[in-house]
Amino acid sequence: MGDTAFIELNQIVKDFPGVKALKGVDFSVYPGEVHGLIGENGAGKSTIIKIMMGVHQKNSGSIKINGDEVIIDNIIQAGRLGLAAVYQDLNLAMDLSIGENFFIGNLPKKKSGLVNWKYVYEETEKTLKDLKIVIDPRKKISELSPAMQEMVAIAKTVHLNSKLVIFDEPTALLTNEEVEILFDIIKTLKKRNVAIVYISHRLEEIFDICDRVTIFKDGEWVDTTDVEEIDEDQLINKMVGRNITEMYNIGHQSPGDDVIRVKNLTREGNFQNISFDVKAGEIFGFFGLVGSGRTEIMRAIFGADKLTSGSIELNGKPYKPKSPIDGIKKGIGFLPEDRKEQGLALALSVKHNINLSSYKDINRFSFVDKKQENSRADKYIDKMSIKTPSRRQTVGNLSGGNQQKVVIGKWLCNDSNIFIFDEPTVGIDVGAKREIYKLMEELAAAGKAVILISSYLPEVMGLSDRMAVIYEGNLTAVLDRKDFSEERILKHASGIK
Ligand SMILES: Nc1ncnc2c1ncn2[C@@H]1O[C@H](COP(=O)(O)OP(=O)(O)OP(=O)(O)O)[C@@H](O)[C@H]1O
Ligand SMILES: [Mg+2]
Repeated sequence: MGDTAFIELNQIVKDFPGVKALKGVDFSVYPGEVHGLIGENGAGKSTIIKIMMGVHQKNSGSIKINGDEVIIDNIIQAGRLGLAAVYQDLNLAMDLSIGENFFIGNLPKKKSGLVNWKYVYEETEKTLKDLKIVIDPRKKISELSPAMQEMVAIAKTVHLNSKLVIFDEPTALLTNEEVEILFDIIKTLKKRNVAIVYISHRLEEIFDICDRVTIFKDGEWVDTTDVEEIDEDQLINKMVGRNITEMYNIGHQSPGDDVIRVKNLTREGNFQNISFDVKAGEIFGFFGLVGSGRTEIMRAIFGADKLTSGSIELNGKPYKPKSPIDGIKKGIGFLPEDRKEQGLALALSVKHNINLSSYKDINRFSFVDKKQENSRADKYIDKMSIKTPSRRQTVGNLSGGNQQKVVIGKWLCNDSNIFIFDEPTVGIDVGAKREIYKLMEELAAAGKAVILISSYLPEVMGLSDRMAVIYEGNLTAVLDRKDFSEERILKHASGIK
């Protein structure tokens, strides 16, 4: 670490209407340092990086780059100062090719005045290759998987020769192997003396990749320390102000009757011959790598996609999925993984969103029962500890994790028999994770069948009574809790016999 920080933020204050997002925080990052930034949902992490990137303007405080005070008005200027960010919402132009994205606003011209496409694609390919990303630079962004889009966004920051690269929850969409690739890229950047900010709710990643870590709580700076000098329990305590020792400790029920029985389900091109059953009171894990077909299986059961063949029974009666509305009527609740796209009306209030799927229940004599609407909203704001100034706040103004919690609250309002959680804790802080696990325990104790899809192994292993493992559209194993071992599960998940 050199003597001068690459970037130094002092006493940064940021107010939004009704919310003090940052109450005078300090934060600095040195060249060649990976600096973790952690805190609960709504602590102010994304806000401070948006201030660095010129997306938001601070109310007061100062920013220095290489010791000189700077004012960062907009993202273009941030780019000129050498700052780049890989956000939760990636800022790539979906309809353009990878190469065009790399040179956006700065396309090289030939003498004739025409764009030098050969140069664009050769340069892009070189940058990608350096980072061991194998892909045709002529491909459109919209044709890439979410993980690959993220890799491209990262490669773009390398191409721009950035001096500071900010990663805001980069691993949420990535498989284990892709996380390895990402960490290699970060190590390459570090060797080039780039300063790196790393935001994540997966604390073990902080210990894997960061040199120092800063903790925010409720818009305040709590601590900055060498990662070697702190352990996970201490970090959690500083983050949430209490100890959470038994993350996955929940009660397990003795299973009741089969709630759902699935036989030989096939959807051509996605999955084949899937058979399993889930009993009342059971938490049934569904583990597999991102892209293995777990979500597709559940979508078909829910009625969102058509099946080619196979049969399903619900509570002993035959069931043919027709549409999601039919699925909901039959008692299947599905919490989708892309919650931002499928789950929320960003322009509406928290209250409105929570009640959205249940207006037909509270809408007696065709006017809305305001009292019930309010109390439902308050109940889930409390239950999910949603950080919002009031139930009237626009959902689009909440932090990423709090938006997720609104979707889950809205969804729990439905009275289902089967609850399918697809990656429920991505982007959620440790305290709220624990709340979600307890909610799953409650549902199981009330005799519901709970299906948990997750690519986060500690979570599925910690919570499930039984676990199905999926590999490339095939069910490779159903394991009992007593037979869970990381090695065995990963073997089945990667198709090794
Ligand atoms: N545009 C906005 N308008 C109003 N309030 C906002 C806006 N953006 C953020 N906030 C509020 O500022 C606070 C900090 O939000 P921020 O997004 O920085 O949290 P975060 O630490 O990134 O959380 P997460 O882990 O959930 O992503 C939150 O209370 C949030 O509701
Ligand atoms: Mg955030």
